[in-house]
Amino acid sequence: MTLTPSPRVGVIVVAAGSGTRLGQDAPKAFVGIGGHTILRHALRGVFSAPEAQVVIVAPAGREGEALTDAREAAGARADLVSVVTGGATRQGSVAAGIAALWPSVEVVLVHDAARALTPPDVFARVIGAVDRTGWGVVPALAVIDTIKRVEGERIVEAVDRSQLAAAQTPQGFRRDVLETSYAVAAEEYTDDAALVAAAGHRVAIVEGDPLAFKITTPADLDRARGLTTPVPAVPAASAGHGMPRVGIGTDVHAFGGDGSLWLAGLEWPGEPALSGHSDGDAVAHAIVDALLSAAGLGDIGTHFGTSRPEFAGAHADTFLARTRELLGEAGWAVVNVGVQFQSNRPRFAPRRAEAEAALSAALGGSPVSLAATTTDGLGFTGAGDGVQAFAVALIRPA
Ligand code: CTP
Ligand code: MG
Repeated sequence: MTLTPSPRVGVIVVAAGSGTRLGQDAPKAFVGIGGHTILRHALRGVFSAPEAQVVIVAPAGREGEALTDAREAAGARADLVSVVTGGATRQGSVAAGIAALWPSVEVVLVHDAARALTPPDVFARVIGAVDRTGWGVVPALAVIDTIKRVEGERIVEAVDRSQLAAAQTPQGFRRDVLETSYAVAAEEYTDDAALVAAAGHRVAIVEGDPLAFKITTPADLDRARGLTTPVPAVPAASAGHGMPRVGIGTDVHAFGGDGSLWLAGLEWPGEPALSGHSDGDAVAHAIVDALLSAAGLGDIGTHFGTSRPEFAGAHADTFLARTRELLGEAGWAVVNVGVQFQSNRPRFAPRRAEAEAALSAALGGSPVSLAATTTDGLGFTGAGDGVQAFAVALIRPA
C-alpha cells in the first residue's frame, strides 16, 4: 500500500507568466541559465528547503515541460509535486495553485519562479515566522537607493527610506488566511501580502536575500547567468538518489610518435612511442572517458580537446587529476577503475604494480587495476600497429 504524503507546508511556484519584459522566445520560466531553465533553478531552492507539497503553476501547453523539470529537481521528493495550468494574471495563477493544495497543508508559501536563485534558508525563515506569529510573512530587503516621489520629471519630495522595504517571495501565510483572502479579493493586487492585508490580516517582514532578486529584464538575466556556474547535462550527484554510477571508456593510439612511449602513467624507455595530441597514453584516456561517462560529464574531448593547448604533451597524472577534480565539483568520488589493455608490447607484467600505483595515485588513491592481453596476432593490435585500452569506472556520491 502506498501512503499519500501529508506535508504540513505547501509551496506554490508561479511560473505561468509570459516574460514580456524579458523579451525572449520562450515564456520566462523556460529561459535557460547555465544549462537549466529558470524554473529548474527555482525548484532547486524549493526542494532544498524543508519538505513540502510543491504545486507548480505553468503556462498553458507547458505543463509537461514543467513536470520534467520538477521531477529532475525533486529527486526522492517527486511524489510531492503537481503541475496546474496558470491564469491570465499572477493572481489568477496563485488561485489555481491554491485550489491544488492537499488537505494536510496548513502553511502556504507563494513563490515567483522568476526569483530563481532564492536560497533555501529564506523558505525556512518564512515558514518559521508564520508558525511563530500566525501572520502573513514577507521576506524583504532594506531599500538602499534614495527614493524620490516624482510627478513627470519633477521631484516632488524625498521619501524616508527607513520606512520602506522591498518585498520578495516566498511569501508565507496560514492556509485559512490565504484562502479566505483570495475568496474575497475584488481587485488585482501587486503581491499576495497586499491581497491578504486588504482582507484585514496582519503581515510582517523577515530578512530577505539579495539572491532572491526577480529576473525581470535582460540585465537581470545576465546577472543571474553570471551568478550561476554551468550545470552539467546530467544532474550532479545530489540528484542521483545516492546511487553509484558506472561508466565505460575506450581509446586507441597508433605507434609512430616522437620520443619515448608513455603508457599507463609510466615512461617506457626503449619502446616505440604512440602518436596523439597528448602523449598517446590510451590507458589513461580510456580511464578519463570511463570516469566522465559515469558522471555524465561528457567525454575527453569536452574537457581536454585539441583546442586546449595546455594539455598538448600532458601525461596521465595531469589528465586524471583534472578529471577527478571535475567529478568532485559535480559531487562524485571515484570508487575504483578496471582497465584492460590490448597490444603486443610493451610487456606489462613486470611493471603492472608500478603502473597501478601511478594511476591510482593520480586518482587520489582510488584503486586502479590493470589487465593486459595480446590478440593472438589478430587485428591492428596483433599486427603491431597500435594499442587499445578499455576501462570501466565506478563512482559514488562524494
Ligand atoms: N506569473 C504567473 N501567471 C501570470 C503572470 C505571472 O504565474 N499570469 C508569474 C511569473 O511566471 C513569475 C511571477 O508570476 O514567476 C512574477 O511575475 P513577473 O515577474 O511579472 O513575470 P511575467 O509576468 O512572466 O513577466 P512580464 O510581466 O515581464 O510579462
Ligand atoms: Mg508580469
